[in-house]
Amino acid sequence: MKVIKSIKGFKDIKSSNFGLSENQLREKAHALIPGGAHTYSRGDDQFPENAPALVVKGKGCYIWGSNGEKYLDYGMGLRTVTIGYATPEIDNAAIAEIRKGTNLTKSSLTELDAAEKVLKLFKGMDMVKFAKNGSTVTTAAVKLARAYTDRKYILRCIDHPFFSYDDWFIGDTVVKKGIPEEISSLTINFKFNDIESVKQAFRNYPNQIACVIMEPTTHIQPENGFLKEVADITHKNGAVFISDEISCTFRTGIFTTLDQYGVTPDLVTVGKGMANGYPLTALVGKKEIMNLGGIKKEGEERVFLISTTYGGELISLGAIQAVIDYYKKHDVLNYLWSYNKKFISGINKISSDIGIEDKFYIEGFPGRMNYVAKDNSGKSSFEFRTLFHQEMVKNKILIPWIVNSYAHGDKELKMTFDAVTNSLEVYKKALKAGLGHYLKGKPQKPVFRQFN
Ligand SMILES: Cc1ncc(COP(=O)(O)O)c(C=O)c1O
Repeated sequence: MKVIKSIKGFKDIKSSNFGLSENQLREKAHALIPGGAHTYSRGDDQFPENAPALVVKGKGCYIWGSNGEKYLDYGMGLRTVTIGYATPEIDNAAIAEIRKGTNLTKSSLTELDAAEKVLKLFKGMDMVKFAKNGSTVTTAAVKLARAYTDRKYILRCIDHPFFSYDDWFIGDTVVKKGIPEEISSLTINFKFNDIESVKQAFRNYPNQIACVIMEPTTHIQPENGFLKEVADITHKNGAVFISDEISCTFRTGIFTTLDQYGVTPDLVTVGKGMANGYPLTALVGKKEIMNLGGIKKEGEERVFLISTTYGGELISLGAIQAVIDYYKKHDVLNYLWSYNKKFISGINKISSDIGIEDKFYIEGFPGRMNYVAKDNSGKSSFEFRTLFHQEMVKNKILIPWIVNSYAHGDKELKMTFDAVTNSLEVYKKALKAGLGHYLKGKPQKPVFRQFN
């Protein structure tokens, strides 16, 4: 039971909880916060038991645990940190806004500057509305689409894991307790890269579907012009095409749907990587639809679009402007891709050299990827996924998923390859001898499950 009294190298960190053991910290977190964390994907059930109970601080691509250990991080704040934790250029821009007063009484110049800068990145999009969470902007997009079309149904991609914690989405998952059937029955779905499933939905609900919402890509990319076909069918049926780029933002691409796949959506939701961890998301879209949330057309019935107390707070809106400048100056996007290219080929080679390339491999492409862990029968396995992560944690790497940053360099790549080699050697032994000898504690569980 490790007890930590302070974090080495960070004398400024004070906590009334220093002195508690890892187990005590976990228990206290679960006693005070439902799920022990403010995001389910940050919960204990998403990590092996040897991961730190809590994390304390990040710098560059490293993160410090409540156990006092320093870890190389491939979680990067749930994809939000693209440049590196505590990057001075971004933090200084944020601090300058703090000194202006943080959250002012009327719409600010910072807000206007940020809107102008962001819209320059989204060709064909005319207006933007800022918020703090992805769920806020996807839900706003859906509401706008319903108002614009005067229709009820939402057609969403079933293969994309998460669009919002709001009822219209969660009601269409297995964790639907608390959501009335009247709401969940209004969300229907289609399969990625299966154009017939999109056509069928429009046939089943003629003139009733308000919008199609999907990510332009996950680690599985659209094939054979799928995105373009979806956009065309959506428009032919009088619906709105919403591209959810929250997880792609400033990683897979800048305006991924257009830049990577040549398709222009009607509304785009962006977030995660856009402000290097500062809380900022945005709904970006065509004027004709976005303007429904405006107040200039006298006599027109209003749509109460996003209206939040902190939507115009200065700190994140200062940070994003610095991020945009940083990306231009350092060509961050290309850097992230080039690191990932080496990452994918290096790890797949290690797995193949060890002789388990059909049981453990990286799938996807440098814009977005995932590690696949299978058991002896060839089935994807949470147990083996946890074992891999457990061994990586022993080698001082946190890797709940694979997300890098501009701060990940050659030293970190080498550290990763060494750790993967050690971890996959154990993985191979566990395939032979059984997990019982190797996996300590409970395996990770899926975030979307009906029961605890
Ligand atoms: C594609 C996508 N859309 C929407 C969301 C919801 O964002 P938030 O958690 O900020 O509400 C997420 C979050 O992971 C996401 O990945």
